[in-house]
Amino acid sequence: MNMMKSGAIGCLVTILCFFFFFFLSFTSEIHTDRLIRESNRSQFSLLKLHETDNHVHLDNGIVKLTLVKPSGTIARVGYQETENVLDNRHKETRRGYWDMVWVKSSTSQYDALHCTSFNVVAQTEDRIEVSFTNTWNVSHGENVVPLNIDKRYIILRGVSGFYSYAIFEHLKEWPGVHIGEARIVFKLDENMFRHMVISDDMQREMPTANDRKMGRTLDFKEAVVLENPINPALQGEVDDKYQYSCNTKDNRVHGWISSESNVGFWVIRPSDEFRGGGPLKQDLTSHASSTSLAMFLSSHYVGVRVRVRNGEAWKKVLGPVFIYLNSENNTNNKPNALWEDAKRQMLKETKKWPYDFPASTDYAHADQRGTITGRLLVRDSYLNRGRTIPAKSAYVGVAAPGYAGSWQRESKGYQFWTQTDETGSFIITSVRAGKYRLYAWVPTVIGDFKHEFNILIEPGSKVEAGDIVYSPPRNGPTLWDIGIADRPDPDPTLVNKLFINHTDKYRQYGLWERYTDLYPDQDLTYIVGKSDYRKHWFFAHVNRKVGKFYKPTTWKIIFDERNVMRGANYTLRLALASAQCANIQVWINDNPNGNLPHFETGRIGKDNAIARHGIHGLYWLYSIKVAGVKLLHGTNTVYLKQSLRFGPFNGVLYDYIRLEAPPT
Ligand SMILES: *[C@@H]1O[C@H](CO)[C@@H](O)[C@H](O)[C@H]1NC(C)=O
Ligand SMILES: *[C@@H]1O[C@H](CO)[C@@H](O)[C@H](O)[C@H]1NC(C)=O
Ligand SMILES: *[C@@H]1O[C@H](CO)[C@@H](O)[C@H](O)[C@H]1NC(C)=O
Ligand SMILES: *[C@@H]1O[C@H](CO)[C@@H](O)[C@H](O)[C@H]1NC(C)=O
Repeated sequence: MNMMKSGAIGCLVTILCFFFFFFLSFTSEIHTDRLIRESNRSQFSLLKLHETDNHVHLDNGIVKLTLVKPSGTIARVGYQETENVLDNRHKETRRGYWDMVWVKSSTSQYDALHCTSFNVVAQTEDRIEVSFTNTWNVSHGENVVPLNIDKRYIILRGVSGFYSYAIFEHLKEWPGVHIGEARIVFKLDENMFRHMVISDDMQREMPTANDRKMGRTLDFKEAVVLENPINPALQGEVDDKYQYSCNTKDNRVHGWISSESNVGFWVIRPSDEFRGGGPLKQDLTSHASSTSLAMFLSSHYVGVRVRVRNGEAWKKVLGPVFIYLNSENNTNNKPNALWEDAKRQMLKETKKWPYDFPASTDYAHADQRGTITGRLLVRDSYLNRGRTIPAKSAYVGVAAPGYAGSWQRESKGYQFWTQTDETGSFIITSVRAGKYRLYAWVPTVIGDFKHEFNILIEPGSKVEAGDIVYSPPRNGPTLWDIGIADRPDPDPTLVNKLFINHTDKYRQYGLWERYTDLYPDQDLTYIVGKSDYRKHWFFAHVNRKVGKFYKPTTWKIIFDERNVMRGANYTLRLALASAQCANIQVWINDNPNGNLPHFETGRIGKDNAIARHGIHGLYWLYSIKVAGVKLLHGTNTVYLKQSLRFGPFNGVLYDYIRLEAPPT
């Protein structure tokens, strides 16, 4: 046989075979896909909805949800053999529930958001969604929060958990309302759930409610020293729910593990859009007495409530969040298998966002959203020879139109954030229709960026913002600066062991008194060129405890300057990471005793980050002009005094301080 020919035939056969197999694999893929879907369907039980006088039962064969009618609270979450993972010792309305704190003429009111009517809003082979509503009217009086509440619960076929979301609505003609907190609380069965997980390195065995009750209360009721805990390993530790706070951007899943039954209970937040305050807003997660929270709105670490005014129409969809249950029967498996699985589930839920199943018309589906793309650059006239460079790993987001940084205090609307890549490029996806302003901040660069135009998003919008340049505040070259400092070790008698070797050791209790311990009579003095901010800068400017009282402290920054330009202006930049009822006064070379300050911030801040073990609350930036005549040839001193002294928690956390020479 002719070698050429057989070669050609061989080739043809190969091609034919290729097509044949291609065809085969293609069709079989479609086929198996359908088979899998069909077998999934038959493999998963049918959804069941059963209503009695006082209850509604939702059951997908994996999870059994018992809701109280018409309040809309969760009495039972059944999973596998466990009839209820929630704590049966509590009333049916106090096991799993939405609630709210709001303000009526300056007093805080608690509202359990009990509803008055029940409806099935969707019931198909694949999903059931129920709704509990409360419709407000004037006859409810001023003790009921003036909002329409619609609480939803969803179960899906074959899904190991359930979803919940709510719609809050305020009509124009109603009295205004200030919301301090809105959340879902899950009180889990303490006998089952003792191991709490917030992140890979924030997890531990937790005290019970009774352990806390038997403990000694510290400077505020949330902080307790455990004196006789049921688990002797916890003896003498401090417990405080605020130690387990997390930045919104770092907390998409948290929950509890029952080591005995190998069951996990997880709160998964697939999107941050409905949480106010941006990526660095901190909030509670899970805490002692086997409690897991889904926080939606709060003034924690910000100090600002959601303010809906008289005459303002407002509506917001909170959620859905996903409550995921998992189990591991093979006890030889890795101890963290449930947590690893919960993280994988969180990624799956995040990918599915926006969900396609919520039935409320107020919930914006994928086709009702838009995207924004662009590239963020930074131009600092005294860095990189004034060249424009990409803003790497910058945070870029859209929120309600306002001033630069206003998103920190904003939670009435929705916010959408992302981070830029190496080239400064960003894409913000799934933005609900509405009017926004684009904001950004760049790690290691001071100040806040605000774009010059509002952005209007309509369903399907693809907005190209193009190249955007941020020119941070800058008047002249840096003479010196003081960066971020670390927090000192805690009082050894008031430790939470979790944070002993932890990078977040600032979560330890008692920052406000450590200053007194470290600087018992002499205040902090920082010498530019000699001191190291990592070691010699106590980043929290708090009061000193003297006997029973708290006294203001005055810090000194000493620097040498040989070529003072007396006819020109210098700029002192003071960036604060938090403030709690504080007033920072600044003197340049003048003695603070007997001279008016050169500058003062005035009374600022109520983010309470110092008491709540935060490393930051709200960001403040002050640019202070210093006339050259104020400076001396030789040694100069900047004095910083926090002048308010109501108690232990007044103070600021410094982020960054810089002195700029006059423009060149
Ligand atoms: C207002 O609310 C009350 C109590 O829920 C109800 O009885 C009444 O019918 C409502 N009035 C209107 C006008 O909806
Ligand atoms: C674990 O056990 C439960 C009930 O005994 C069962 O329904 C479930 O399928 C098991 N899970 C695995 C992963 O084997
Ligand atoms: C912290 O680390 C030290 C040294 O590695 C170790 O001996 C100690 O057991 C750790 N403590 C805790 C509470 O993890
Ligand atoms: C310095 O600041 C003062 C006060 O704002 C201003 O009047 C003056 O012109 C400035 N001097 C220079 C050289 O810019």
